[in-house]
Amino acid sequence: MRKLPITILLLTALLTCSCSERKADYIIGVSQCSDDEWREKMNMELRREASFYPGVEIIITSAHDDNSQQIKDIDALVAKGVDLLIVAPNEADAIAPAVDKIYDSGIPVVLVDRKTGSDKYTAYVGADNYRIGYEIGKYVAGRLNGRGKVVELMGLYRSTPGRERHAGFTDALEEFPGIDIVASADAGWSHASAAAVFDSILTTTPDIDIVVSHNDRMALGAYESARKAGREKDMLFIGVDALTAPGLGVDKVLDGTLDATFIYPTGGDKVIDVAMSILKGQAYGDEILLSTALVNTGNARILQMQTSHINALDEKIEQLNSRLDNSRLRFYSYRIYLTICIVLLIAVATLLLFIFRERNRLRQQGKELVLQRDQSIELSRKLEEATKAKLAFFTNVSHDFRTPLTLIADPVNQLREEGRFEGHEKYLLDMIHKNVTLLLRLVNQILDFRKYENGKLTVKLSSFNLAEAVRGWAETFIPLSYRKHVRFSIDIGKETDIMVSSDVEKLERIVYNLLSNAFKFTPETGDITLKLSMDGNVMALKVSDTGIGMSAEHIRHIFENFYQADIHHAGSGIGLALVKAFVELLGGAIRVESAEGKGSVFTVEIPVTADERTCDNQTRENAAKMTILRDGAVADADQETVRSSSDITLSGDRETILVIDDNKDVRDYIRSLLEDKYNVLEAADGKDGIRLAMKHVPDAVICDVMMPVMDGMECCRRLKNEIQTSHIPVMMLTAYAVDEQKIKGYECGADSYISKPFSAKLLKVRLQNLLDNRKRLKDFFGDKASIRTSSVSDTDKGFAEKLKSLIEDNLSNPEFSVESLGESIGMSRVQLYRKAKVLTGYSPVELLRVARLKRAASILSSSDRTVSEAAYMSGFNSPSYFAKCYREYFGENPTDLLKRKK
Ligand code: FRU
Repeated sequence: MRKLPITILLLTALLTCSCSERKADYIIGVSQCSDDEWREKMNMELRREASFYPGVEIIITSAHDDNSQQIKDIDALVAKGVDLLIVAPNEADAIAPAVDKIYDSGIPVVLVDRKTGSDKYTAYVGADNYRIGYEIGKYVAGRLNGRGKVVELMGLYRSTPGRERHAGFTDALEEFPGIDIVASADAGWSHASAAAVFDSILTTTPDIDIVVSHNDRMALGAYESARKAGREKDMLFIGVDALTAPGLGVDKVLDGTLDATFIYPTGGDKVIDVAMSILKGQAYGDEILLSTALVNTGNARILQMQTSHINALDEKIEQLNSRLDNSRLRFYSYRIYLTICIVLLIAVATLLLFIFRERNRLRQQGKELVLQRDQSIELSRKLEEATKAKLAFFTNVSHDFRTPLTLIADPVNQLREEGRFEGHEKYLLDMIHKNVTLLLRLVNQILDFRKYENGKLTVKLSSFNLAEAVRGWAETFIPLSYRKHVRFSIDIGKETDIMVSSDVEKLERIVYNLLSNAFKFTPETGDITLKLSMDGNVMALKVSDTGIGMSAEHIRHIFENFYQADIHHAGSGIGLALVKAFVELLGGAIRVESAEGKGSVFTVEIPVTADERTCDNQTRENAAKMTILRDGAVADADQETVRSSSDITLSGDRETILVIDDNKDVRDYIRSLLEDKYNVLEAADGKDGIRLAMKHVPDAVICDVMMPVMDGMECCRRLKNEIQTSHIPVMMLTAYAVDEQKIKGYECGADSYISKPFSAKLLKVRLQNLLDNRKRLKDFFGDKASIRTSSVSDTDKGFAEKLKSLIEDNLSNPEFSVESLGESIGMSRVQLYRKAKVLTGYSPVELLRVARLKRAASILSSSDRTVSEAAYMSGFNSPSYFAKCYREYFGENPTDLLKRKK
């Protein structure tokens, strides 16, 4: 459909072309020998007659009485592709070959007026020239009453009319012996040559009664000559052609110049009729002879009148013809216009159809779009409703949480204040207190944020000393800075030591949240600075840290509701959103500059008004809530410190468990559960976890999934890929009970999975199962030395095979020690010890010793070697030590074996 306009254009062009004037059906070529009045009349007749045949084109050439020119003309006409050739040959013999050639080539040839002497022509149209000559002879005889002297001026003798008229004339006069032809000369058809020829005849011929010329032109030439000689009255002049135009034959008869003339018909109409019959394959006469007649004073007037009447009619015919031509032209033009109109009409109709269809299509599309838009609007409305409902539910639940949480917090506080608990109980109580505080802060922040969103958070102004207030709030974090080994500077400008009027509670919470955030993301030995200054009546608070910082992408979203910069940093992300809400509520602005790995600077600018009044009711009313928010902010920030692993001493007879979790409380809690029975190692992220696992090769790893630096999945995958740690069972721990995560956990090689919150009992049981399930390679020294325990990975099987073959290859070498074994296998002494012990139940030393003992036993039982020889051959340095070990292992002396053998 899109190619339609092109199609229309093509169609239009095609039809327009077909309207242009068509090629002629027939081309008729006419080669005239001469260009006198007689020929002009003939040519006019040819043209007029041809015009009655639509689709016929006529081309006329004149050779001007020149043979070679006529031959060229004939060739040129043939080259133009004529379908038929009309020729009036100048001289018969000269033109005959050219005409014969054309005729032979298959082009029909019509000879007119003159002939070639050859019979190679299709038809001849013209007068009977012999007959004309004969009629003249008879007329002359009658005019002279059978006696007199006659001069004959012949037409070109090499042209057939000249020859034939002469023959007819002389034949006619044969019967009249009294008539004497005193002179006969070739005057070449022209006026001038006739005059010249007659001049000389006059000089030699004194008596002339009649001058007979083969055409009127020559007759008038002779008359002119005679008149010059003053003898024109002495003789009569006779011509041929009898043209009626003024000054020509008939006219000259009427004025007495000529005595008579004979009609030589041009017959152009007849010629065309014959030619068309030939071309159309219709019947035609091959010798059309036109008749002649005498014209003298007796009939010249009538002839002239008739001729002029005919001429008038001819003119009318001409006019009609030209009108017809005009009409035809108009017809053709109209036909072209009509065709163009039809084509345009078709084009317009097609275009309209196209436009109509397109419009319908677009309408349809429009309808679909409107439908889609309506559906989207409906969908987003529903989504909005659902979101609102969720938020409302969320708010309600938060409300519901607050009362029970407060009812937990208060009794816990009482218990702590009573100070009755010590040791592990105190630890558990502190943990409850801390986490209840965190939860309450969270619930309060959520509710405040909802209030802000609903436009219900209002500004409550009070007067207070700015510097004092901010210092007080900031100092709350000093103990935390000690615990976290962070340098914390409080820089309060003197100019801020003024009474101001602002919403003290909101300012306090801004400070808590910014500091809590800074402490949370600043590692040990970092720096945190709080700077307070005044710029006019604008308070500027700047909290900078040298913590982990944020990427540009995170900065863009950091103040969005519930945005978490790092998915591994568990948290609601509400703190900074709330800060922004408070700042904006107080008419201020907040901005952050941060660079990843370098730290962040949060700047808050809030306009405050200096105020001397002291009215602090709000603060007192909300004191309890503020305590919780403050304690919560500190507690939230106090979660990262990790116990240094360098000073860890592991008790050799206990199994070691490595706990990897970024939440200190979780680690502390798990430690509290396990430390009675196991050695417990701690790491705050996957990377550190791997480092500890490689160093200490624990018996099991408990690993959180969501952690910074390296997450639990990656950590587990790496542990399982390292030969030193691949045997260690890993239990994944996560806050999300999502099946997909469990699958991923198992995919990366985890052996077990436990969801937070977990019960202490479940964790312990699962851990014990893991440790028990780790089957030992009881058959390490079995026949095939293969490990049949299905829970053992390929990595571990490979390790055992290698260990076994290394030992067996070096049994006779007393220098081969546990160190050499570790070196060959690429493990430290500790790693090799831990791994071998877990997999086989034996330490490397034991493995080496047992293998040697087994080899010695085999030597003793299968050969005649002595005990000492067998001991040396198995890599023992001393036979007595060998005997001791043998006894311990086999429960008998080596000599007992020899005795049994005998
Ligand atoms: C015209 C003409 C006539 C004459 C005829 C003979 O060219 O000279 O005058 O009758 O030719 O072919």
